[in-house]
Amino acid sequence: MTILGIESSCDETACAIVKDGVEVLSNVVYTQIKLHQPWGGVVPEIASRAHVEKISGVIYAAVDEAVAAGGISGLTDVDAVAVTYGPGLAPALLVGLNAAKGLAMSLGIPLIGVNHIEAHLHTPFLESNMSPEDAMPALGLAVSGGHTSWIDMPEYGTYSIIGQTLDDAAGEAFDKATKLLGLGYPGGPVIDKMAKEYAGNDFIAFPKGRPRPGTAALAGLDADLCTSFSGLKTALLNYVRGLRGDNPDAPIPDIPRICASYQKAIVDSIADRTATALKRRRYSSLSVGGGVSLNGALREALGKVADKAGVKLLMAKPKYCGDNAAMIAGLAYYRQNLAGVEAERVDVHPSLEAGEH
Ligand code: KG4
Ligand code: ZN
Repeated sequence: MTILGIESSCDETACAIVKDGVEVLSNVVYTQIKLHQPWGGVVPEIASRAHVEKISGVIYAAVDEAVAAGGISGLTDVDAVAVTYGPGLAPALLVGLNAAKGLAMSLGIPLIGVNHIEAHLHTPFLESNMSPEDAMPALGLAVSGGHTSWIDMPEYGTYSIIGQTLDDAAGEAFDKATKLLGLGYPGGPVIDKMAKEYAGNDFIAFPKGRPRPGTAALAGLDADLCTSFSGLKTALLNYVRGLRGDNPDAPIPDIPRICASYQKAIVDSIADRTATALKRRRYSSLSVGGGVSLNGALREALGKVADKAGVKLLMAKPKYCGDNAAMIAGLAYYRQNLAGVEAERVDVHPSLEAGEH
């Protein structure tokens, strides 16, 4: 079965064509990073306008790429259209959803609404020789600019959140740090690079992402499986203020050491909560997805955690870590029960959680 997927939940306009859930025939991603860089973060209106401008071209490019690869002879070989309907920025989601509805209706094929977080957890299976069913039960870890969640997956297609950040996501914590340090956007890749020389060291004792007492219980979650990164960002702000003293414009010394310490606080807290979650149930694998999973120190730390727990670590190829549509088209193959009977019935759901449909 050949599915065309569309993704537009944040600042990537993407389309991909995937066969039988894992064989990627084409994967086109237009990233808007340059448009948002001057603002130090994603501006929803700018994102939405850029999606409108790019979406048709990106869809055509994905079809052309799949035809050139010999995977399909044209759009008429596509069996269904899949689209991210949440979570994400409402004005951005709407662009992809409307394009997908139009395409599905004009071709007379089903439309499948896909949950973006669940799709990140599908990425380790793209172009791999492991079938998702064989990797279950799995602990899913979604670490991106918008999410940091630990998700119990007893069988493929069943998701329940067992832990998550109670405020900022890990990617957001990286992005806020580089904004504060004047190092640009997005923050994760910059900190990853700046921290390389000292990775694994903590010269500065930043808080390790522990939630304030009682906050996890309010969310109905176990505090040992949750993180909080807003205190980390404040600690960095106070540290930098202390360094600058009376001169708020003074250059910040020792940025690589600050980056290494800050990164270690995030990586240690994610590794610690993951190790705890892996002790709670018997899992076969740890399946990780999302832009932050590109982080070198995090990959290494999760490797050690998985080894110690005796589970297989499943990570996506780097090109599938960030937002893309191959993960949408891929997961849709396993979510055909969610195909809209009538395409117009699928609507955007900006605050969708994993396991919610
Ligand atoms: O999954 P993604 O592309 O979009 C969302 O769904 O949010 O993730 C984007 C996030 C950004 O916050 C970015 O700073 C972070 O992923 N990121 C990284 C790295 N590369 C991207 N974080 C840490 N280390 C990296 N190498
Ligand atoms: Zn994402």
